[in-house]
Amino acid sequence: MKKPFLSAFLLLSLLLLDQSHFAKAGIGSSVASWFKSLNSEKIINYVKGKKAPKPEWDNEFYNYVKPDPKLPNLPLNKERKGFAPLKEYLSNFGYLPSSDSYNNTVDQQTLSAIKTFQESFDLPVTGDIDSRTLKLIKLPRCAVPDMDFNYSFTQNVSWPKAGHRWFRKRSLTYGFLPESEVQPNATRVFKTAFTRWANATGSLNLTETTYDDADIKIGFYNFSDSVVGDLYGFSFITENPPSDVLTAEINLNGNMYWALPSEKEFLSAEDGILDLESAAMHQIGHLLGFDHSFKNDSVMYPYILPSQERKVELSISDKNNIRKQFANADSANGGCLGVPSITTLLLSLGFACMLLMC
Ligand SMILES: *[C@@H]1O[C@H](CO)[C@@H](O)[C@H](O)[C@H]1NC(C)=O
Ligand SMILES: *[C@@H]1O[C@H](CO)[C@@H](O)[C@H](O)[C@H]1NC(C)=O
Ligand SMILES: *[C@@H]1O[C@H](CO)[C@@H](O)[C@H](O)[C@H]1NC(C)=O
Ligand SMILES: *[C@@H]1O[C@H](CO)[C@@H](O)[C@H](O)[C@H]1NC(C)=O
Ligand SMILES: *[C@@H]1O[C@H](CO)[C@@H](O)[C@H](O)[C@H]1NC(C)=O
Ligand SMILES: *[C@@H]1O[C@H](CO)[C@@H](O)[C@H](O)[C@H]1NC(C)=O
Ligand SMILES: *[C@@H]1O[C@H](CO)[C@@H](O)[C@H](O)[C@H]1NC(C)=O
Ligand SMILES: *[C@@H]1O[C@H](CO)[C@@H](O)[C@H](O)[C@H]1NC(C)=O
Repeated sequence: MKKPFLSAFLLLSLLLLDQSHFAKAGIGSSVASWFKSLNSEKIINYVKGKKAPKPEWDNEFYNYVKPDPKLPNLPLNKERKGFAPLKEYLSNFGYLPSSDSYNNTVDQQTLSAIKTFQESFDLPVTGDIDSRTLKLIKLPRCAVPDMDFNYSFTQNVSWPKAGHRWFRKRSLTYGFLPESEVQPNATRVFKTAFTRWANATGSLNLTETTYDDADIKIGFYNFSDSVVGDLYGFSFITENPPSDVLTAEINLNGNMYWALPSEKEFLSAEDGILDLESAAMHQIGHLLGFDHSFKNDSVMYPYILPSQERKVELSISDKNNIRKQFANADSANGGCLGVPSITTLLLSLGFACMLLMC
């Protein structure tokens, strides 16, 4: 098989390499037991030092790429242990072109990619994996790439991407994968997150329905260990031929501890105890047309920083982006949303007013 281009490849790795991902029948019990573990007693045990199993790539990656301030520069064309998974990591998120395989040879392209990564995240540009860079890399993050990826369907799936609106209506529905057995206290968290976005856009109506009927399908899955990175979730768009209707999915990692807002004292990005509402806000943002932001107060920042474990309020830059995105789509070329009738036209004028007010 010819390797699909960079970004599609990570998406397909997430979706296809790990067959258990789509084996809905199979995920039932593990995700159910996981969700049942969302009680504070288990979380307390966990905080007391019961670490979740780390994936296989972890040791090589984290133990071999040792930050050593005494090394002046990485030796070009020499081998450096742990460099292969680092290249894979950088390519997963758009900093390096993808490749069929990665080796430990230090090359100029990877050194430039490290610099781009450091510049993007406002880290000192050392060109080496120093301790601050490594600290960020170790944090859980969203699997959607940061840069250099396209809205383009390979095997019926695509990443969501700013500027490409996959939905053509204002009323969108969402639903939960039944096998994930998402409890009402968690579905309420999503409802709040959808309402936050709906309020902020002023023009969307998001309501819950069944999984099969939903425009946005939400589920918890065992993520593939074969993808380098501590991934907490991602979202994507699906074609449904022969129909031309597109649907979207939000997949969260079922092996994280997902905390409810009432459990915020247990949050720990390092230990994988993550705030469900923050993850929901971020993934909904992707599906409504927002790419990653390198501003750390944005809900679209890709990493979960230890000092910002719960981040559910839209930042000023998020709100400005919403204004841009939705003003474009809702004004002159409102046809892009497919709203031909007078009533909807009047409605959208109303929405435009609301937009101006926020
Ligand atoms: C999901 O992951 C858990 C823990 O890593 C594992 O025990 C379980 O067998 C996995 N389930 C499936 C269906 O792969
Ligand atoms: C969430 O709901 C489930 C099922 O009703 C319950 O077992 C769990 O304790 C609740 N969690 C919290 C934090 O309230
Ligand atoms: C490592 O991979 C690069 C391509 O990414 C290749 O040019 C180089 O020859 C490889 N080095 C070794 C030692 O295999
Ligand atoms: C994205 O699309 C552009 C234009 O078609 C193309 O030049 C570029 O290589 C694509 N990028 C990726 C990562 O596939
Ligand atoms: C994509 O959709 C077409 C039409 O339904 C189907 O034949 C094809 O198998 C799908 N591809 C994948 C990878 O699901
Ligand atoms: C959404 O807006 C309504 C009406 O202004 C307000 O009552 C509600 O609290 C808002 N919800 C959220 C989650 O921001
Ligand atoms: C939002 O969508 C729901 C379900 O489609 C519908 O019942 C409701 O009337 C809509 N609300 C608005 C304000 O359009
Ligand atoms: C967030 O970014 C600002 C500006 O770059 C920086 O001053 C601040 O230290 C960052 N906060 C965290 C928690 O990284």
